[in-house]
Amino acid sequence: MDNNKEIVLSGIRSTGNLHLGNYFGALRNFVKMQDDYDCRFFIADLHALTTNPDPDELHANVKNIVTEYLAAGIDPEKATIFVQSDVPEISELYLLLNMHVGIGELMRTTSFKDKARKALGLKNDNTADEDDDKIEQQIIGADSNKRVNAGLLTYPTLMAVDILIQKAHKVPVGKDQEQHLELTRRFARRFNSFYHTDLFPEPTNYNFGAAAVKVPGLDGSGKMGKSEGNCLYLIDDEKVLRKKVMRAMTDEGPKEPNSPVSLPVQNLFTLMELTSKPEVVRNFKDAYANCSIRYGDLKKQLAEDILAITLPIRERILELRNDDAYIGRVLREGGERARYYAAQTLREAKEIMGIRKFY
Ligand code: ADP
Ligand code: TRP
Repeated sequence: MDNNKEIVLSGIRSTGNLHLGNYFGALRNFVKMQDDYDCRFFIADLHALTTNPDPDELHANVKNIVTEYLAAGIDPEKATIFVQSDVPEISELYLLLNMHVGIGELMRTTSFKDKARKALGLKNDNTADEDDDKIEQQIIGADSNKRVNAGLLTYPTLMAVDILIQKAHKVPVGKDQEQHLELTRRFARRFNSFYHTDLFPEPTNYNFGAAAVKVPGLDGSGKMGKSEGNCLYLIDDEKVLRKKVMRAMTDEGPKEPNSPVSLPVQNLFTLMELTSKPEVVRNFKDAYANCSIRYGDLKKQLAEDILAITLPIRERILELRNDDAYIGRVLREGGERARYYAAQTLREAKEIMGIRKFY
């Protein structure tokens, strides 16, 4: 790994198989960046713990994600691939950084409010600010069956530490992670200014100059996500994937030329823009504008174009997933490298904060 290259860090939680949201929001960029940057990609198993997964599932999912990283084209000769919990320095710096993080700013984080609502069994009707007091009261008053765990609250601290401990400059993530990155920059700035140091660079999201990606679901709702249950997975076989696409929600079709596009149909176009050739997208958009569009044809084309991306990855996943020796070697070597950098930053941070030995 070349020391003069800018450092890139990103991770995905080990909560299930990877889907097209992960692919276009994150993984595709991981692969594209590995030649030009000092890339470090990890599996966020500690973050996965914040939602208290079944231990065997968590364990299996770490292997799923690393296999899918490799199958998608991350090359361990070029990039460092590691498991978050293999770097205990992260947990130590997380404790230290929390001393400079406000409970209030964590409670105002959108992802926290969503997950707290879920943990309390409240309706998830997007974050009206007047709700904040109510949520806060419910969190404080919740009985132990419905508690909101402190790990959920401090999720952004842990994510900031993942990034700062590697002194990363660029963090390729999807749009949903931008608030976490904003907090990371704020924590870095605060630490640097409190201790009069320049230890931590302020990282930015990176998508090759384009805006961050948000891949929609095909059920007419917002984003594609594991907890939304609307994912097209990289591991889906041809039949399953075609079926999911053909079942995508649409509407009755345009009745007049140049009609506005409804959300479910816009979602199909958005996915198509990510997967299909520009002229294909244009043809279907023109067909929509002059009312000749047939959604069945659009879905068939979309399924083909998605499969052209996912099937080769699926094949490599199936090839790789039984090669425990190879996967083990990748993670051991990656873990060692990640730890080496992390230990150095942790040493510096402790020294700066006054945790110094005189004995
Ligand atoms: P999920 O949301 O399915 O639980 P993660 O939160 O682990 O997945 O996300 C891992 C990465 O994938 C992050 O960089 C995130 O921004 C990206 N990502 C997840 N879903 C989407 C989506 N629908 N559109 C764009 N990026 C996404
Ligand atoms: N919070 C990210 C997600 O849900 C995963 C993550 C944890 C991450 N630590 C990170 C992403 C550090 C980028 C950098 O997708």
